[in-house]
Amino acid sequence: GRVAVFMGGDSAEREVSLKSGQAVTQALQAAGVDAFARDIRGCLLRAVENPDFDRVFIALHGRGGEDGTLQAILSQADIPYTGSETLASALAMDKLRTKYVFAGCGLPTPAFRAMNGEEEVGAIVADLKFPLSVKPSREGSSIGVRKVRTRDELASAYREAASHDPLVLVEEWVEGPEYTCSILQGQALPVIGLSTDHDFYDYDAKYLANDTRYRVPCGLDEWQEALIQNLAVEAFRVVGGRTWGRVDIMEDQEGRFWLLEVNTVPGMTDHSLVPMAAQAAGIGMPELVVRILLDTLP
Ligand code: DAL
Ligand code: MG
Repeated sequence: GRVAVFMGGDSAEREVSLKSGQAVTQALQAAGVDAFARDIRGCLLRAVENPDFDRVFIALHGRGGEDGTLQAILSQADIPYTGSETLASALAMDKLRTKYVFAGCGLPTPAFRAMNGEEEVGAIVADLKFPLSVKPSREGSSIGVRKVRTRDELASAYREAASHDPLVLVEEWVEGPEYTCSILQGQALPVIGLSTDHDFYDYDAKYLANDTRYRVPCGLDEWQEALIQNLAVEAFRVVGGRTWGRVDIMEDQEGRFWLLEVNTVPGMTDHSLVPMAAQAAGIGMPELVVRILLDTLP
């Protein structure tokens, strides 16, 4: 049957998604799949009216496409789609509540709390140790994320995050290095290590800079890499992820690993990490997208 690659969308990650969607479409076509890209704007219900396709490869990032909304609509329309279902998508989109689940399952995640307004600066300072990371809970690609070193910077970082999402997460900063572990068909791919001259792996470092360095193999001992992979598989399992995703993890100065978040529709651009990890496992882009698509077949 025909595969529609849904991309674009109206989220803040629209530009990234257009690139992911193009890359996925080309790879599906290279594998001989009858696939086309479709830019999804406006009402998601319209996207499934009189469909001219049999299944959907979701390459939408952020709210609307990655957060369970589209997944619920496709389920209701009986159209098979790639990746996680509604609950896991909605949960993973929400970093704050993902951390409640990690914490509830005894998985290591940096100390954190919600911040509900500027008047909570005092409560945050009493609860958490600087530096802090202030994030919109339901956003991606590090949009709206700030590193906060002192109490004075907290209110403005809160306002910045809250301008993207009223739900704001504050967590203790872990210096890194940062690692990311991709999941394919429930299994961990090789871990990638990230280094950047930016404060952290922010939007520019992700998509614009060419001084971001990726290490694969990641340079850790085999047992440490296995530790990260186990954490990633466990994190993906507890949020209820399906088929594929990417889990972001920080290492602290003592060599301990901390879970940050799960991405259920990770980037698939030519700068992106999942294609890089798959390549390191000998899986090219066409095979990667076909394996993701295969899990939508009955
Ligand atoms: N949110 C971006 C697309 C990622 O996780 O790769
Ligand atoms: Mg994310």
